[in-house]
Amino acid sequence: MIRGKHIILGITGGIAAYKSAMLARLFIKAGAEVQVVMTPSAREFITPVTLSALTGKPVVSEFFTANTGEWHSHVDLGLWADAMVIAPATACTIGKMAHGVADNMLVTTYLSAKAPVFVAPAMDLDMMAHPSTRANLELLRSYGNHIIEPASGELASHLIGKGRMEEPENILRVLEDFFEKGETLRGKRALVTAGPTYEKIDPVRFIGNYSSGKMGYALAEELAERGAEVTLVSGPVTVSTTHPQVNVIKVESAREMLAEAEKAFPESDITVLTAAVADYAPAEVADRKIKREESEIPTIGLVKNPDIAATLGARKRPGQMIIGFALETDNEEAHALDKIRRKNLDAICLNSLRTPGAGFAVDTNLVTILTADGQKLPGELKSKREVAADIVDFITNSLS
Ligand code: PMT
Repeated sequence: MIRGKHIILGITGGIAAYKSAMLARLFIKAGAEVQVVMTPSAREFITPVTLSALTGKPVVSEFFTANTGEWHSHVDLGLWADAMVIAPATACTIGKMAHGVADNMLVTTYLSAKAPVFVAPAMDLDMMAHPSTRANLELLRSYGNHIIEPASGELASHLIGKGRMEEPENILRVLEDFFEKGETLRGKRALVTAGPTYEKIDPVRFIGNYSSGKMGYALAEELAERGAEVTLVSGPVTVSTTHPQVNVIKVESAREMLAEAEKAFPESDITVLTAAVADYAPAEVADRKIKREESEIPTIGLVKNPDIAATLGARKRPGQMIIGFALETDNEEAHALDKIRRKNLDAICLNSLRTPGAGFAVDTNLVTILTADGQKLPGELKSKREVAADIVDFITNSLS
């Protein structure tokens, strides 16, 4: 699975840098092309000559080659890569990556990389356990980076605890599994809706809701990482994605969302409707700002918005799968099962506003998958990216 892949191996300044030579060798033996990028302090731990001899490519460590003035383009490198692996990743580099401190070639390359990023931390146990390190790793996770957790054992300080960089063989296996997984939905098309819709009252006001788009964007990225070509129809959100297989179409209202979803749906094998679509829109939109000084308090008449899920559900052909979401506050399961039936869904992901840490805007969620054929798959509270992975596992199992 790794044969022919372009891998950037980022090495930072820690004792475990000696293991990076073995990792480079394993990648090369598995048929990958490897470009090493080192931080200046990594050079104190392992020589670039060893790594360039193993990879057959000069190591990149500075923005310029000192004697020729040749510029090393982190942007080109970022585009070249199929994966970037930072092993070992020190607390310092993890912090810089989390906060965009681009003061060396490794961090600038990381910020330019469009490919999936794997981070294998290595440090002393107290540094590893520090809330700052844990928070920075959580930030990297929330950017969609893959953290290869360190193992426990004897550390360079001779203390025993968690902080040993994962063994090179295991890092290779993580990459192999990742690329294998990336083939599961190859050739499939997916449609995802995400975020809220805004229904205009006048040029400055709207009816909306608290959806941030985090759940929908996590699903779009997870589907793309498994190989699907994804159309993401997104309401107004601040989250974004740079995944090359996700085509984002921005809309504002439910009617606009329906129009874009209808265009993509006929070609879609998998449709996941995560958006919190406003059920009602103002019957009339004022063309000028409604003024507070006006004598009468305005009454806003409402009309029902189209139901995107039900519209697509009515057109579903054999072989197409539609997964909905249900956000409930009471009598959750009964409402969700009713939506499966009314909207002709194959399954629904039920999340409840009664569960702390689930639903709108937070980084975590807890969903129970209920299927049209009566299965109930309870979930746990996890990051939205992990919940998305569980939902896509369910989708791939159902397709096979
Ligand atoms: O965006 P986040 O902040 O990460 O929050 C995620 C979320 C809470 C918005 C998400 O997990 C979620 O629950 N989305 C569905 C919210 C919702 O509107 O549920 P509903 O029960 O009202 O709708 C049921 C299904 O019909 C949903 O798939 C919805 O997209 C769809 N629908 C609803 C109304 C409508 N007019 N058209 C629709 O397609």
